[in-house]
Amino acid sequence: MIKAPRGTRDLFPPDTALWNFVEATVRDVFRAYNFHEIRTPIFESTELFARGVGEETDIVTKEMFTWEDRGRAESDKGQSLTLRPENTAGVVRAYIEHKLWERGLNKLFYIGPQFRRERPQKGRFRQFYQIGAEVIGPASAGSQSPARDAEILELLVALLDRVGITNWTLQLNSVGCPADRTRFNEALSAALAPVVDKMCVDCRRRAVTNPLRVFDCKVPEDQPIIETLPTIDQFLDQSCRGHYEEVKQILNAVQIPHIENPRLVRGLDYYQKTAFEFTHGSLGAQNAILGGGRYDGLSEALGGPPAPGIGFAIGEDRLVLSLSASAESVIRRPDVYVAPLGAGMNPEAARVARDLRRHDLVVDLGDESFRLKKSFEVADKMKARYILIVGENEVAANAFALKHLASGEQVTVPRAELPQQILQTK
Ligand code: HAM
Repeated sequence: MIKAPRGTRDLFPPDTALWNFVEATVRDVFRAYNFHEIRTPIFESTELFARGVGEETDIVTKEMFTWEDRGRAESDKGQSLTLRPENTAGVVRAYIEHKLWERGLNKLFYIGPQFRRERPQKGRFRQFYQIGAEVIGPASAGSQSPARDAEILELLVALLDRVGITNWTLQLNSVGCPADRTRFNEALSAALAPVVDKMCVDCRRRAVTNPLRVFDCKVPEDQPIIETLPTIDQFLDQSCRGHYEEVKQILNAVQIPHIENPRLVRGLDYYQKTAFEFTHGSLGAQNAILGGGRYDGLSEALGGPPAPGIGFAIGEDRLVLSLSASAESVIRRPDVYVAPLGAGMNPEAARVARDLRRHDLVVDLGDESFRLKKSFEVADKMKARYILIVGENEVAANAFALKHLASGEQVTVPRAELPQQILQTK
């Protein structure tokens, strides 16, 4: 038997109704905040992620699905391509390639699959889905303002509220600007020097190449050492500190509770200033339901003009896992099952079904070969509200037997009154 690859999965009804509910709701929320959709490719050149996400990150060192293109054209041959492990780098690549700065401030959102070769467990997949947004543009368009950071966080709170997620925790930090980072890395190197020999191989490497990434370490034995390391908050310059203060001020004004976590550095290198994560208790070890932050230098790192930006990505798989709503509560079951009764009844039943569907009713349609008993069984199984019988007598009278399945109540309804009768009891 051929099975889906490790870390991937099939999603079926009724669960997909929950995914659709989430996606429809977030699209509504994005509309209210004037965000518009961007779709970028699912694979990009490997270099984009190496330069964008960072050579020393777990994503780039261990988790990417990368291959060499075998295209016939000389220009394709040997090009290294990668399934996108995240979408911020792709959006910024598109911003540069299509000169999106000409549009001023871009407020973009995306919904789609991402790929990371991680060890699968609850809430962690190799193909997973993100709902993300990015606000990016020239500084003259206000892209640098702490008001944008706070608006993004306020949007997220509204979004979680609309899909029915409560009990989240917002962790907030400022990871400073590159100069702060340099000073912080120096202090980290100094603090790591006497202890690094006791740490895992990854940390020993990180201590040399990019000490900040030591904070990504998940090895339990290393944690007591990591807890003694200096934190970035002591190294922020005046302007980063001011930015952070303003973000918190607005959050307080709009009453968004948050916890400051100076050890939150996020697993991607492009962050500057604001970084944040929302966690949710029901998720277990993989408790980050979403993460994001500011990436003011990313465009330049990718060869573009200065373009401050801030964004987030929600793990849709994890969002769905932490929903209290059940698929059953959001799926729309058929209003009516149309049952043709007897030979030659399919055309007339098709006509009745078509007319009802034009009234925004959910209609399913049987087949004239079904006995009445079987039609009832099928209608019951799909949890239709009504069954409507289309037999010779009904067609002759131009009135149809309509039975409410839960109560067993049956009425005969003239064709023209059917939609109204069914809508009435919705
Ligand atoms: P990230 O923290 O790497 O950030 O991922 C965001 C979210 O995606 C995580 O909080 C988690 O919910 C979900 N996620 C990540 N890996 C997996 C996985 N293997 N299985 C299931 N869910 C997963 C980013 O990707 C940034 N691009 C976010 C961002 C946008 N920053 C600025 N703009």
